[in-house]
Amino acid sequence: MARAEADVAKSTGGVVKWIDDRFPLMETLRYHVTEYYASKNFNFWYVFGVLAFVVLIIQLLTGIFLTMNYKPSSAEAFASVEYIMRDVEWGWLIRYMHSTGASFFFVVVYLHMFRAMLYGSYKKPRELIWVIGMLIFFVLMAEAFAGYLLPWGQMSYWGAQVIISLFGAVPVVGDALVEFIKGDYAISDITLNRFFALHVILLPLLLVGLIFVHIVALHEVGSNNPDGIEIKENKDANGVPLDGVAFHPYHTSKDLVAIIIFLIIFSAVVFFAPEAGGYFLEHANFEPANVRVTPEHIAPVWYFTPFYAILRAVPSKAGGAALMAAAVLLPLFLPWLDKARVKSIRYRGWMYKSALTLFVISFVMLGWLGLQPAEGIYVTLTRVFTIVYFAYFVLMPYYTSIDKTKPVPNRVVYNA
Ligand code: HEM
Repeated sequence: MARAEADVAKSTGGVVKWIDDRFPLMETLRYHVTEYYASKNFNFWYVFGVLAFVVLIIQLLTGIFLTMNYKPSSAEAFASVEYIMRDVEWGWLIRYMHSTGASFFFVVVYLHMFRAMLYGSYKKPRELIWVIGMLIFFVLMAEAFAGYLLPWGQMSYWGAQVIISLFGAVPVVGDALVEFIKGDYAISDITLNRFFALHVILLPLLLVGLIFVHIVALHEVGSNNPDGIEIKENKDANGVPLDGVAFHPYHTSKDLVAIIIFLIIFSAVVFFAPEAGGYFLEHANFEPANVRVTPEHIAPVWYFTPFYAILRAVPSKAGGAALMAAAVLLPLFLPWLDKARVKSIRYRGWMYKSALTLFVISFVMLGWLGLQPAEGIYVTLTRVFTIVYFAYFVLMPYYTSIDKTKPVPNRVVYNA
């Protein structure tokens, strides 16, 4: 038994040993925590995985308490949310944490995905981590969409109406599919009930399961780093990567700083601007759902607007729906579209750097355009940025194979 383990056994009165004889506790902790070696040159971009985990915990905990007072029926849902906000002890805090958490989930996950694009983390041997990540992203979108119907406000109702009707564009089975999703001929109490079931049970279970396999896959191949170098290729006599440091205590202590800063920013929004000017909680959603009155502008929450803009870039409903589906699915194929021999942006040529910059600009602009009315110059701009968005992926095999890359060093670059 190693010295550290003997110490643990002594200080825990042998409980750990008792468990260890029946369950691989210490072995698991060693493999995933104390002897999981990740590169010593991790930077700012490497905190978002852990932060996504923090938001997940916030959402699960606050969700449980919301469910204790929320009523999933079209007659009572809106009023039950008001009841939570006004009468339930600390209900306002729990609700604002949950609604703010939804937006922060997407902020953190978008930055986490962008990091993978910066450092080529989706490339061999991490394709599966990326693919599982994309599945997490799809489930997260479904989770946010189902959750948004629950307060049964005007935007809950009409937003769901717009998005569910898109499934009608699927050839042959479209109409049947729409009815299947709604469980009725219109969005009704039945729809609300099933969205509640999906939001509190099925999708969170899927999310947690997928995150588990995401981490298992990550620990099998090891983390990438800002240099895109495989640290497992340079090991010392004990088999420890020369450029690696143990996840605990080195990365955990760094991550703790990020978690504290994140919680300060998160609290500032929860306490001082929970509606975020209508971006996190839309104004129209403070009115109960009304089947007879359509809101003036129907726009989804900000995290869906880049894709919503792409939907509206095409005049036909079927064309728009197909293009939007393609826009959501395309990143899944990044590991095979990117032909570059280097991973990290640090050693890529001007072509990839320009392409990634244009991609970010197009994504942000589409996000903004999705909030504007679909008319005049907005439509023209949406079409231009939709083309840029797709060009990033479609032309990628070409520009990444001819781009002039720089030589990659053998060891990671680290400036203390
Ligand atoms: C709830 C959502 C998610 C959680 C909790 C999560 C968690 C994590 C954690 C803890 C790590 C290791 C730390 C780090 O590298 O930041 C990681 C790595 C990674 N994640 Fe996620 N993730 C989530 C969603 C996603 C999504 C949506 C994608 C992409 C589509 C993705 C792709 C990756 C990749 C490629 C890595 C390896 C990065 C590297 O080693 O450079 N993840 N994830």
